[in-house]
Parts: sequence; C-alpha cells; structure tokens
Amino acid sequence: MAEFSLPKNSKVQQGKHYPASGAKKPRTFRIYRWSPDDEKNPRIDTYEVDLAACGPMVLDALLKIKNEIDPTLSLRRSCREGICGSCAMNIDGTNTLACTCAIDDCGSGDVKIYPLPHMPVVKDLVPDLTHFYAQFASIKPWLRTQSPAPARERLQSVEERRKLDGLYECILCACCTTSCPSYWWNGDKYLGPAILLQAYRWIVDSRDEDTGTRLDDLEDPFKLYRCHTIMNCTRTCPKGLNPAKAIAEIKKLMLERRGA
Ligand code: SF4
Ligand code: SF4
Ligand code: FES
Repeated sequence: MAEFSLPKNSKVQQGKHYPASGAKKPRTFRIYRWSPDDEKNPRIDTYEVDLAACGPMVLDALLKIKNEIDPTLSLRRSCREGICGSCAMNIDGTNTLACTCAIDDCGSGDVKIYPLPHMPVVKDLVPDLTHFYAQFASIKPWLRTQSPAPARERLQSVEERRKLDGLYECILCACCTTSCPSYWWNGDKYLGPAILLQAYRWIVDSRDEDTGTRLDDLEDPFKLYRCHTIMNCTRTCPKGLNPAKAIAEIKKLMLERRGA
C-alpha cells in the first residue's frame, strides 16, 4: 500500500505561547506562522487576548496582537468593513473575512486562524494571490463594446440592471475559490468560482457586446468544466453570494448556444 507523508519542512510545529496576565476576559487564539526569512518549519503560536479590552471582531484581536503583543505577525487588511476583501483567512475551519467575523461566533474553544488554504504563503496569514489575479485579468473584466460610444452613458433598463444583483457585490476575497476542491487540484487551469462569477457578471451585462467571445474563451475542459457542483463556494462566501449558481448559468448558456 502506498505510504504518504509530508516533507519534513512542511510539518507544522508548536510555537511560542504569549500569556495574558491579569486579563479580565481571556480568549486564546492559535495562529499559523511561517516566514520565508529563515529555514524554520511553520508553527502555531498561541496568544491569550483580553477581550475586555478588545473590539468584537477577529480582526480587532489580530490587530491587538500585532500592536501590543507580537509586531512580527503579518496579515492583510484595509477597510475593516467587508469591502476590500483583503483580510480573508481561514478562521475556525471556514474561509471568511476577519473584519466581519465576530469573536463570539467562533465557538467555545481556542480560535484557530490559518491563511486561505491551498495557496502559496507569502508570510504568516498573507497568501500569494498573484495567480488568482492573473486569472481575473484573463477574463478581461471590463465593458467590451464595438458600437460607437454614446454622448452620455450606456443606459440599462431596471430589469437589465437587476441581472447584475448578486454579482457586482463580489469583493474578490478568494474565500470561495480557496474552499473549492476542484480548484485545489486544478487551480493552474480551472478558473474557480470567484473568477467564473466575475466572468458571468460581464456575460449578463446588457451593455457588453462581446458575449460570444466571452463564452468562446470559457469553452474549455478545464477553465469552466472542472466545477462539479460541490457547493463549498456558495456555503463559504462571506458576502452571501452564489458562485455555484453563476457557474451553472454559464453552463446553461453554453448549452443554449449549441442548440441543446
Ligand atoms: S463570490 Fe464571495 S467568496 Fe467569492 S470572491 Fe466574491 S465575495 Fe469572495
Ligand atoms: S460548486 Fe463548483 S466552484 Fe463551487 S466549490 Fe463546487 S466545484 Fe468549486
Ligand atoms: S479589512 Fe477589508 S474586507 Fe476585511
């Protein structure tokens, strides 16, 4: 029988412990740490945080750790209100946004925090999204038109505009894509739920005049058809969107134009 074991340098080790002496309301956070600057294995550091002197969200606790306990902790964040998508990470087993995830909703035990799964890590909680953004650029996510530009904006009816609801709200946080088993195994060629939802956003935009080319570009055994409707993407989206449905709609359009 085949035996599988991780390479030595990928085994996660127990890291440092930072106690909170005199804390009125202590809560423990177990956080993945890895740095490219040394040869050391990844480790899990344990931080005790006094929630009596901390904001309510996981991002508040992470910033308190960084500002007051351990400035070497690396993470991304910007808007702190679920708009920029940069604080996406895996919290207690779910990909979500640290800034909209309440500490009280994290279950009763230690809060476990890892970077988004199956992505190369730049440092600690910072994933390398270079490939993800290149895939986004590959769908040419802008209005493509051939007709002469009108004097004012290109208008839409209320119904046409409504078709973009549930799509334009996507903040490209990558929570869905990094929860998708098909993307874990074929992410080099499969576009994944976030980019396919974005592709559909332009396909259904009534002002776009390149729908045929957009569909041609997705007619590929890997780019689109690696989705097996496992639905992890829709379950995890912190904005409540439904990428699996968007993918199903693209597949439907493919069938319709083949006359099936
Ligand atoms: S669909 Fe949701 S989970 Fe996926 S990138 Fe957009 S906002 Fe993030
Ligand atoms: S529905 Fe498709 S895109 Fe979503 S998790 Fe499943 S395989 Fe991935
Ligand atoms: S900091 Fe912008 S989404 Fe969390």
